[in-house]
Amino acid sequence: MSAPTARRSLLPLAVLGEHLTNRSAKTCQYRCGNPCAHPVPNTSANEYFGDMVATAVSRRSVLLGATGAAVVTSLGWSTAEQAYAATGRGRPSMAGFEPIAPTPNTVDQLVVPEGYAWSPVISWGDPVEPGAPDFDVHHQSVEAQKKQAGYNADYLALHRGGAGNGAANRGLIVFNNEYTNPELMFPGYDEAAGPTAEQARIEMAAHGMTVVEVSRRGQFAPWTYDRHGTRNRRIHAWTPFHVDGPAAGSEWMRTSADPTGRTVLGTLNNCAGGETPWGTSLSGEENFNQYFNADAAPDPDQRLRRYGITSSGRGWERAEDRFMVAHEPNEVNRFGWIVELDPDDPTSTPVKHTALGRFKHEGATVRLSADGRAVAYMGDDERYDYVYKFVSKGRYVEGDKKHNMTLLSEGDLYVARFTGDGLGDGEWDGTGVWLPLVVGGESRVPGWSVPEVLIWTRQAADLVGPTKMDRPEDVEPNPHTGAVYLALTNNTRRTPAEVDEANPRPGNKYGHIIEWVEAGNDAAALEFSWRIVLIAGMPGDGSTYFYGYDKSLVSPISCPDNVAFDSDPDHLWISTDGAPGTIGTCDGMFLMPTAGPDRGKVQQFLSVPAGAECCGPVVEWTDRSVLLCVQHPGDGLPSSYPYLGDPVPRPGVAHVYRVTGGGRG
Ligand code: FEO
Ligand code: CA
Ligand code: CA
Ligand code: CA
Repeated sequence: MSAPTARRSLLPLAVLGEHLTNRSAKTCQYRCGNPCAHPVPNTSANEYFGDMVATAVSRRSVLLGATGAAVVTSLGWSTAEQAYAATGRGRPSMAGFEPIAPTPNTVDQLVVPEGYAWSPVISWGDPVEPGAPDFDVHHQSVEAQKKQAGYNADYLALHRGGAGNGAANRGLIVFNNEYTNPELMFPGYDEAAGPTAEQARIEMAAHGMTVVEVSRRGQFAPWTYDRHGTRNRRIHAWTPFHVDGPAAGSEWMRTSADPTGRTVLGTLNNCAGGETPWGTSLSGEENFNQYFNADAAPDPDQRLRRYGITSSGRGWERAEDRFMVAHEPNEVNRFGWIVELDPDDPTSTPVKHTALGRFKHEGATVRLSADGRAVAYMGDDERYDYVYKFVSKGRYVEGDKKHNMTLLSEGDLYVARFTGDGLGDGEWDGTGVWLPLVVGGESRVPGWSVPEVLIWTRQAADLVGPTKMDRPEDVEPNPHTGAVYLALTNNTRRTPAEVDEANPRPGNKYGHIIEWVEAGNDAAALEFSWRIVLIAGMPGDGSTYFYGYDKSLVSPISCPDNVAFDSDPDHLWISTDGAPGTIGTCDGMFLMPTAGPDRGKVQQFLSVPAGAECCGPVVEWTDRSVLLCVQHPGDGLPSSYPYLGDPVPRPGVAHVYRVTGGGRG
């Protein structure tokens, strides 16, 4: 059946279906391998930096806990109604939109501000490559899926331009297809039995990345995709990747299918990402562990356990033996990397860059240093894991894409240590250092070779004393100011004894955001100054902090995941993943100014359908244009997002655009 084009009107799910079950545990299982149900992988003796000895009770209700460490008190939150009242609605907004009220987690629809509209750009199963059939949920196949848009979109990029006139209204989008929800993809799926080998192969084809050309009829018109675009491309679990960098070809990267250790089939669990100054896309292989079954595999050095590789939750070993670690022990080492794709060249071979280390990469974002080196910021999304930085050896050359695409192949790798300066100053802030792991081609971890540091980066980092963080997600520099923003999505396991000034909330259910500035504002510097700008949650909860703004005028926000910027240097956009399970509302996208009179005024711009998370926003605020990914709609609730009449929800990319006024306002 071809994709219907009518969009569903905004109706509460209560009138759409009666089988309201909570499937959120399924997303935990299929996205991350359900790590919350497993032991924390980081059991290193690496200390918690409980370095804050508060000298006074600050104006933000910071108290000394029983251990002497600072604890942010929670005054509790009474009712959701209070939160809904506290959105700043009805007051003039300097941002150019009226914030929406938090959306109850029963609404199967994108909700946008007054004066804005939205439309789907491309959804799972839409035809992408030549010969791709129209989406038909009842006749899925591996060959069809390899040519159709992949499943759960996360990272998203828009590349403007093209030949001829009107280039501003043409371009391409790149989006990741992080993982699959087989229980939503396949009608009649047998959850107890797991996927058949054929279903596993279709899931493998639905992973990876999608590139499609897009166009629009004018500055304030919706973007649509071109199923016949010449640069359209699917990257999936069998797409060949070239491995480069110091670990390429090492004994731990070789398999029976690839004795050279330099060519890997596929990329998995690609979460966030970033654009390089030279026009390529970087993408993080995140929860790769869940695809591998480590039954009967020896693990004398805990190298599997530290990455959470235990037994498969996917059953993909039924389809391909490479996912059985005992049979192909090095295949698992070939995932967990940052990959680089040149979307302008559909014949190019994407690359896995070993120089950037191997962990559960959320993504990577690049800023040039003062002397032109490429600096990539990276988070390892696991409770108590770390933040990393790569500094290239070579320098960026304007206009030389071929050269610039070598920059991430060789350079230095660091991991961050955050030190607080105490709470007597009323701020969660301090200084930080980048601890060396590999510098100048030499390992800085005693007894470890460079390939070992890069393949088992988590354990190498454990040995140098970085700060254990509350799940580092997106790390991205503001392109106008150079200040770097780190989303720490949550960590409910952090105990009062484990808090530090950079991770100050025990049982951190709602997450927070840290801002830092490198010494001299040079991305390659080895020291930085940091402060917390947001401690998320319900505004009435005393543990929250909105950069000092009046909490009666902000939107509730929980579990920041992606951050983004636009043409206004003060605009920090935040998308969330976890509001339904923490504050009971739909996830969404928020604006938080970082300077000026509205500094800290979190305002909700949109919400995604019930059960979904909001990912990858691309904001062009001059055009009042927001592209975003809607991931796992239908998780725990029946959904037909985004098309009326579809029997299954279709994750994908949507466009929000202004329909009244246009321009600034
Ligand atoms: Fe796939 Fe860390 O979110
Ligand atoms: Ca302080
Ligand atoms: Ca994420
Ligand atoms: Ca997420």
